[in-house]
Amino acid sequence: MTQLYLHPGIVDYFVEYDFNAVQASPKTGGPEDLRRRLMEDYVTEKIILLRNVKIEYDRDFIRNVKFPADWVYKKFSSNSIERSRPIWIDRTKQNICKDLFQGNMGLYSKFRQELIAVNSLIRQVLDEILSAYNVIGRDIVWRHTETRVENLHFDKDKGSDSFESVRLYFNMDDAPRIWNTSHPLSQILTGFYDELELASAVDLPLERLLQLLSVRLFGNWSSRGREQFPHHVVLFEPNDIWICDGRTVPHQVIYGRRVISSFYKLDVDSLPAWHPSLGGRVREVHQTREDGRRQPWSAESLRGYVYPFGAKGPEPPPGVAGKSLKESWAEIYQESIQDRIVRL
Ligand SMILES: [Fe+2]
Repeated sequence: MTQLYLHPGIVDYFVEYDFNAVQASPKTGGPEDLRRRLMEDYVTEKIILLRNVKIEYDRDFIRNVKFPADWVYKKFSSNSIERSRPIWIDRTKQNICKDLFQGNMGLYSKFRQELIAVNSLIRQVLDEILSAYNVIGRDIVWRHTETRVENLHFDKDKGSDSFESVRLYFNMDDAPRIWNTSHPLSQILTGFYDELELASAVDLPLERLLQLLSVRLFGNWSSRGREQFPHHVVLFEPNDIWICDGRTVPHQVIYGRRVISSFYKLDVDSLPAWHPSLGGRVREVHQTREDGRRQPWSAESLRGYVYPFGAKGPEPPPGVAGKSLKESWAEIYQESIQDRIVRL
């Protein structure tokens, strides 16, 4: 599961948790509470793989539901289906039934039942992990249309200063979902502070700052796939579940079909003491600069390798041994598909 091609110039921020161990850990809010440890990893810009979550549903049925490849279904909020209002007085449900099942009510009902089953299991996982929080938004988005090569970006959620967003992804496809990810926000902010004149962005709303960073560093939609920015490559396998803050880990889908993602909002005014809000963390970066304190990252240290390479390409991460393809092919392949993170 979850194959990583790590760029040697970018920090390795991938971690994994056994959900059974999270559930079994004492719900004290202290350091022994794995819910807290997991969320500390979330706050410190990690991508968190969650193992041993059982989500049972009719895979064959869902795999065969054809979502129109239009804007509405690109990021389809499932709240409209979950709500209990009967279909005969709910125009949105009627349209979904028409778009997905040509008006076949039996198929629509089956779909709704499966969607509710999957969503409620995802919500149970989130309720467990977020039990210390005041959750003020609980949307789950079904992205069951194909996505190919997005631009590298930070997520920009409207009104970001007033909540923390939690995105948990579940790959429902039978093929890997492929992402590129790059340097975390804290390093980018400090590394490019002078170059991007971020002192003048001190009053920008969070989402505008993230937009500015995305466009200035990675380019926009029309330059997607041609970013000259170093990145890791990640293959999230079918059934993988991962959590990360897209506002702090820049990412781009290279390829993916059926995924769902939560868009949960945590009330920013009642976060646990150990959870600094993203707005607070950004203010801290500005404050550090104002006070003239040293920054740990420079633009030069974040650039990574410039293509084309000189005499020699980047080496794999330490501990990853080079093997003869011809002699060890079976072994190399087996190593890459184990039920754990594999660093390639
Ligand atoms: Fe995103």
